[in-house]
This record gives sequence, structure tokens and C-alpha cells, in this order.
Amino acid sequence: MKQNKVKIAVLVSGGGTNLQALIDAEHSGIIKSGTISLVVSNVKDAYALTRAENAGIESLTLSKKSLGSQDAFEDKLIEELDRRGIELIILAGFMSILSEKFTRRFADRIINVHPSLIPSFCGKGFYGLRVHEAALEYGVKVTGATVHFVNEIPDGGKIIMQKAVKILENDTPETLQKRVMKIAEWKILPLSAEKISAQILAKRA
Ligand code: GRF
Repeated sequence: MKQNKVKIAVLVSGGGTNLQALIDAEHSGIIKSGTISLVVSNVKDAYALTRAENAGIESLTLSKKSLGSQDAFEDKLIEELDRRGIELIILAGFMSILSEKFTRRFADRIINVHPSLIPSFCGKGFYGLRVHEAALEYGVKVTGATVHFVNEIPDGGKIIMQKAVKILENDTPETLQKRVMKIAEWKILPLSAEKISAQILAKRA
């Protein structure tokens, strides 16, 4: 029954292809223990908001800039999440670091997808194309994606799932980014969302 499912909020900043993978996974039944109930963007014209609208999912835009400070942004976010009874927060291309106050408030309830095999190419400064540039510069032969819990250390929380992707001879940061998304991120993020939602449901019983 839908009302018994774990309510999920997805936080985005950009194109939202990971959000789309989550929406598709809920439609196809890969995600069955949770339901995406809210999408929050910190960028007002993010295409992810259109994806939410097309899927009939409620969305909000909240930003540090319009609310005046990180503290005010997080307070408002907490208020909106609590009001809807959100139990799981998924960062899907959310380009802002959350404070320790926030991550402690939702300990083991926030997950993120990062486009490398953590602990390689992660932490402060490693986001977007930079991650793939660094992997190619280093010359690693295998990279991938990681879904992990979010704590006060950027990309430092416990790992939930990883998937490896081979680097090809002629890869550029752009071709690698696309392949990592397609082969790894869009697969392990929905699977992790289901895994953690099922665990939350089991704890409720
Ligand atoms: C992905 O590569 C994700 O790993 C990273 O930001 C990108 C977001 O893409 N954190 P999208 O907005 O989901 O399309």
C-alpha cells in the first residue's frame, strides 16, 4: 500500500538524469518499498524540476541565496521534509554541501551518488567532470560509481553499493562521464534507494 511506503525526497541541482532513473525505477517496480514524494532543487531553472513535474511529483526550489544563509536554507528544508514525513533523502546531482547539523539530524537517512569508486577521486573539489578528468589524468583502468551514506565528511560516509566501469583507450572526460552514468549511476542509485527503503520499512515493523 502506497501510504506504508517510505517517503523519499530527492535533492537536485541540474539535469536530473539520476532523478529520472529513480522515477523510472519506481514506475517499473525496482523501487517498491519507497515512493518519491518530493523533489527539492537549489537551482530555480534546473531541468530536474521539469522531470518532477512530468512525473506528477511535488517540487520546491529553496536556495541559500534567497533564504540568506546556509542555516536558514537548512532550517527551511528540514521544515519542508518534516511536514511531509520524509524518511529518506537522496542527493542526485545536488551540488551543495550540507552542514554537520543537517547530516546528523538525518543520520543514515541521506544517500548520495558519486561518479567514482570511493575512496578514489572523491572529497572536496571532486565533482562533475573534474572527477573523470582526474581519473583519466591518473591513468586508472577502471573507475565507476559509488552510492554512500552522507555524513559530515564530503563523500566520507559508509558505502552502500559500487559498480565498476572500464576505461577505454579513447575516453575523454565527457565520454567517460556518460558511460559511468549509464552503466553505473543510473543502476546502483535506484537499487540502493530500494535497499535502504526496505531496511527502513523493516525497522518500522
Ligand atoms: C552525476 O554525475 C552525479 O554523480 C553527480 O552529478 C551528476 C548529476 O547528474 N553528483 P544529473 O543531474 O543526475 O543528470
